[in-house]
Amino acid sequence: MALPLQRVVVRAPGKINLSLMVGAVDDRGYHSLATVFQAVDLYETVTATRAEELSLRMSSDVPGELPLDGSNLALRAAELLRQECGVDHGAALHVHKQVPIAGGMGGGSADAAATLVALDRLWGTHLGAERLRRLGAQLGADVPFAMLGHTALGRGNGADLTTVLTHGEWTWLLAVPGGHLSTPAVFRRFDEIALAAGRSLAEHPQLDERQLQALSGANIELLADTLHNDLQIAAFALHPGLEPVVEAAERLGAQAALVSGSGPTVAVLVEDEAQARSIGAGLMRDSLVETCLVARGSAPGASVLEES
Ligand code: C5P
Repeated sequence: MALPLQRVVVRAPGKINLSLMVGAVDDRGYHSLATVFQAVDLYETVTATRAEELSLRMSSDVPGELPLDGSNLALRAAELLRQECGVDHGAALHVHKQVPIAGGMGGGSADAAATLVALDRLWGTHLGAERLRRLGAQLGADVPFAMLGHTALGRGNGADLTTVLTHGEWTWLLAVPGGHLSTPAVFRRFDEIALAAGRSLAEHPQLDERQLQALSGANIELLADTLHNDLQIAAFALHPGLEPVVEAAERLGAQAALVSGSGPTVAVLVEDEAQARSIGAGLMRDSLVETCLVARGSAPGASVLEES
């Protein structure tokens, strides 16, 4: 019989939304979405080690702090897996962060995804990918995508996923301004803006199909043309420092720039790493952002790096 595992290391990627079309609110309070997610090669790495109790430590390459209490998504993922499988195991969790914190790039969701995959192996519960994805959806709409990775179309509240065919690699400058935005607050402001404009929200929002052609045909101009985020106007209203970042990135020569998810990270589409560095330097010089990161997409979903 195989010995039980002592330690499992799993990483899961952050994401940007290449399209985010927002529709009406459903009966669970979630907005119906049509979105295209792309995973990028900034990863959250979770190390789960066998232990009596459940505990959590964090380290980070990015600025900012996260709660280590019961509201933390990695701990909530562990509790949910215990409940689902009727087990009472412990684990010492260590999360190492590369994804900007509370930035609209799904870092917390990636923590939850990596924790579920790691503990499912450490505890020998063997739920399998599909059940883990459904469990992840209970923790947040972006968690299933952090498990799947690559580029995918998200419908419903974002958790119903279909992989999108892509060709080639895309380079992104991720410009992180100071301050955080709360996802529910951005959705609320979006509703207020739509109401004030007398605009009714579609039950099933539609994507610009040309974006899928851009992705399968490696067409950067067409991708730039189709990048769209309905939440951007709400994020601009709540964070006055944000619109100048998008404008400056485009002025500095970017193909296009948009707020990622509910923000405030701005995803800037560039031709290559050299252009990313020069635009990043311009944004930093003008004190428009706190940090700039360069990332490539697509990247794989949650994957096991080590186990012993
Ligand atoms: O998915 P997550 O739980 O992180 O979302 C946080 C909040 O953002 C939700 O409780 C809801 O208020 C809002 N949200 C939404 N529609 C979505 C996703 C999130 O209204 N599709």
